Amino acid sequence: MKSKKALTLGLGLLVISLLALALFFYQSKNKALLRVDALSKNLGHVEEGKDLVADFTFFNDGLKPLRIFDVKSDCGCTDLSWKTAEIPPGKSSRLTVHIDTTMKQGAVTKQIRFASNDPDFSFGALNMQVDVENLHTAGNMTEGGRAKIFTDEKCAHCHVDMGVGAFGKELFEADCAMCHRVQKESKILVGPELEALSFNTPAQIARLREVISFGSKTHRSMPGFLDKAGGPLAKEQVDSLVDYLKSIKH
Ligand code: HEC
Ligand code: HEC
Repeated sequence: MKSKKALTLGLGLLVISLLALALFFYQSKNKALLRVDALSKNLGHVEEGKDLVADFTFFNDGLKPLRIFDVKSDCGCTDLSWKTAEIPPGKSSRLTVHIDTTMKQGAVTKQIRFASNDPDFSFGALNMQVDVENLHTAGNMTEGGRAKIFTDEKCAHCHVDMGVGAFGKELFEADCAMCHRVQKESKILVGPELEALSFNTPAQIARLREVISFGSKTHRSMPGFLDKAGGPLAKEQVDSLVDYLKSIKH
């Protein structure tokens, strides 16, 4: 008798715990339940100038509609095909991200942030890593490097193309700033910070024009920019750079 009672009690407890478990599962799913296929993607090693595409798949594992909103990237170069998405229960949706590697070199990290109505995943971040080929390697930077910077298409892309048809400050920013201003990301400063210097005397101005036109006699990283010296700039463009650097008030 005693054992029968115990059995009934045992069965009762089992049923109750099963019900509790079912309720627990139901409740944990009775919401929008976000799952992303990966929170981080490594896009590998690429050449500069390549447009890369990365996909992230958002799944709704819950029983209520999932909403993704406020999708933002940390730079203009990632173009987002959707800003918000509604994903029904049991369905998924794909976010495609384009990464433009133009003018980039070395390790590049991009981040996308978003918000969702999954109470346990209200904010999220997706990371992408790209290793853009750095052309400043030993092989490229030998004696020939000086000529190559203007003639090799790959180098010209960063060192010449942006300055075509430009004058003054705009031209400085396109062709000179990469070596004469502290770089934002790498903190590298290759040559003197020209915009912080004063060029007043005729001798200083003459030397300015000379180095821009024909390059530095002591440093191979400063090539001559004048067309007659094998560079990409017309005399008027060199003059506009001299005028710009002269005109900066300190
Ligand atoms: C992705 C754009 C980009 C490409 C492509 C590129 N450069 Fe550069 N280069 C830069 C930037 C930016 C700097 C400034 C220093 C830095 O950030 O590394 C620089 C600096 C330099 C320097 C001075 C630094 C030093 O170590 O002496 C030389 C010389 C140079 N580049 C030559 C070249 C040559 C040659 C090529 C082609 C083989 C090339 N660059 C391709 C962007 C580029
Ligand atoms: C690839 C890197 C690089 C680029 C691009 C570059 N420079 Fe230079 N520049 C240098 C380096 C390095 C020096 C230092 C040379 C030396 O020590 O003799 C220098 C020196 C100079 C000097 C002499 C400064 C002084 O007082 O000794 C002037 C002027 C100058 N650059 C102007 C320019 C202008 C204008 C541009 C754009 C058209 C430009 N440079 C583009 C690397 C560069």
